[in-house]
Formats: sequence, C-alpha cells, structure tokens
Amino acid sequence: MMSATCQAVQGQSVWTGESLENDPTWRVQITEAQQAELKASLALVKNKGLGLRDLNQENFPLGTATQELAQQIVDAVKNGRGFIVLRGFPVQGQSDDDIRLMYLGLGQHLGTCISQDPQSVLIADVKEKGIDKTPLTRAYGSKHPTRLHVDLGDVVGLLGVRQAPIGALSTIASSTAVYNEFVRQHPEWLPLACEGFHWDRFAEQKDWEEPYSPTKIPVFSFAPNHQLSVRYNRSWINAGALRRDIPFTEQEQAILDFFDATARSLALTVRMHPGDVYFANNYLVLHGRDQYEESADTPFEQRRLFLRVWFNIPEIRQFSDEAIVRFGLSSHGNIGWTSRELTQGRNLAPGHQRARLESNAHA
Ligand SMILES: [Fe+2]
Repeated sequence: MMSATCQAVQGQSVWTGESLENDPTWRVQITEAQQAELKASLALVKNKGLGLRDLNQENFPLGTATQELAQQIVDAVKNGRGFIVLRGFPVQGQSDDDIRLMYLGLGQHLGTCISQDPQSVLIADVKEKGIDKTPLTRAYGSKHPTRLHVDLGDVVGLLGVRQAPIGALSTIASSTAVYNEFVRQHPEWLPLACEGFHWDRFAEQKDWEEPYSPTKIPVFSFAPNHQLSVRYNRSWINAGALRRDIPFTEQEQAILDFFDATARSLALTVRMHPGDVYFANNYLVLHGRDQYEESADTPFEQRRLFLRVWFNIPEIRQFSDEAIVRFGLSSHGNIGWTSRELTQGRNLAPGHQRARLESNAHA
C-alpha cells in the first residue's frame, strides 16, 4: 500500500525555487476591497464581544471580494502549487488581538482550524520566548534556523505581524520535487523512506497516549488514485529515535540527510514583511526559516511576531492510510482539536478516545 512507484511525479505541485523566482503568480496582493471587508467583519465580532473560539462562518461573514480570496487560497493549496503568499493583510494600525480575530476569522472560511499546543491555542505566537529547545521539546520562534519541514494538520498559515531587522528569510520547497530527486538519484532508498519513521510527541501527549507515534509515518505514500503525500519533519523524527532509544541505521541517516540537503537546494527564499501571509499544504510543501537577529533589549511586545494557524480541509486529498498519514501524528494531547470540541471540553475528558475522522467531518 505504501510502496513507491519509482516514477517521477508531475503536476503543478512540482516546482523549484529557481523556476518560481521569475514567476510572480504565487504572490498575490490583497485588494483594498478585501482589506475593507476583513476590517468590517472584525468590527462585527468585536461589537458582539466574541473571542477566538467563538468564531465561525456565520459571525465572521466574508464579503464577495474576500470570498474570492478564500477560494483562491484553497485552490492554490489543494489543487495548485500547494502554497500561496499573500501581501497586504491589514495588520497596520491594528492591535495584535484584533489581527488574531481577523486572521482566524478568515481561517473559518478556509477549513477547520485546529489547536496546536498543550494550551490548545488556535493561533500560535511564533516569537523568541527565551525557551531553550532540547532535542525532546518544541520551541518554535527561536532565532535559530529551522530546517524545511511540515507542520501537523493539513495546512499551515503563517502571518507576519512584526519582522526582525536582519535575517529571518523564509524558505518554501516542493516536497514532491524532493521525491523526484529520490527517484532520480537514490531509488534504492525509496522502500525505507516509504516505510517512514516514528514521530515523537514532544511530551505533549495525554497520560494514556504513547509518547511517540505508535506506527511509523511514511515519508512518501501514494493513495489509490496515485496522489503522493509527503510527511517530513526532521526534528520530530530525530526525537522519535531518541525517545525510543533506537539510533538510526547508516542508511536511515543518509536518507534523512539527503532529504534535508535536497529540500534546501530546491527551496524558494522569501523575505516576509508585516502583512505577508503564506498558506502551505503540508502534504506537498515544506517550510523553514533562516536564523535572525534582533537586539537583545527589544521589549517582548515589540519582538518579531508571526501568527500560525493550522487547519484541515475536508477531502483535501486521498491517502494511502488516512489514520496514519493524515491523523497519525496530528492528534494527541491537546493538539488537533477543533474550536467546537474545545468549547465542549472534549479534550479534557479523561481517557477519551478520539474519533478524529468523525469529529472533523462534523466540525
Ligand atoms: Fe513549522
């Protein structure tokens, strides 16, 4: 079921940074009409005193122009290159809290937003928090570079609110293009890559859950309709090996290193400015960031800030095994819950066994 075809894949999701550098169609300007509509919807939810978990399509309605934008985003991540970069999200002159409301409000029209950490946040602040990352913990937003990887959930969105003065270039790469390089240069490694790796839970699981994915998550897997899905995050994979105390074999190590180096060589580099936001399909596109510098005496509230959302899109694609490839790593602890489930307190029910496929279908 998870065997490689050993044939290169084709389609819009296969691209290189070089091929897109002179093709600006992946960058889309949010129009003044769309900005005005987003601000009008913000005023509506503020008048009602609604919070992030209250937002839905009814209380954060989109005007006609913004409906078109939402459709454009979903089309790009689902059927196009797998990502889109928007310019001009209305962050200027808005408080961070109001930006969060507008961002998650738009998110309601893109898919089902899901929680991201032990505190079940629906929007994660990606910023330097002075937390030292260890190999067995998460610490996103630190100044250190982040290798190209996928996040949990179907799609990740990253919105720039404040940018660092130096560095912090974002990298985006086609993971299907990486697959093609495996086919071209190392087809002998495909069986192991398709078998995959255990992913760690970074100690964010509930007491009754395994500390790492109970099954291996295939790096490359093909659905019955031959759609390729790629799941790769070196940090979670490294931690899985460490937690299980089973070191990588020489071949596994070589596969991981080749993946990293190839992704890097194929990446598109983007300088994100305040108001820029990208959305990336986690089965087709990898994202990362170079290191950055920020003055040590920058007050906490003025530091570089990006806002991250994760959401699922119904029927985003077919999978070889949905429970493993799609949900095998994105549903544990307080991670992967919808706002409705959080409001109902379902994440707090002891021993609750998730019916993820069902809950997402009805979210
Ligand atoms: Fe990420």
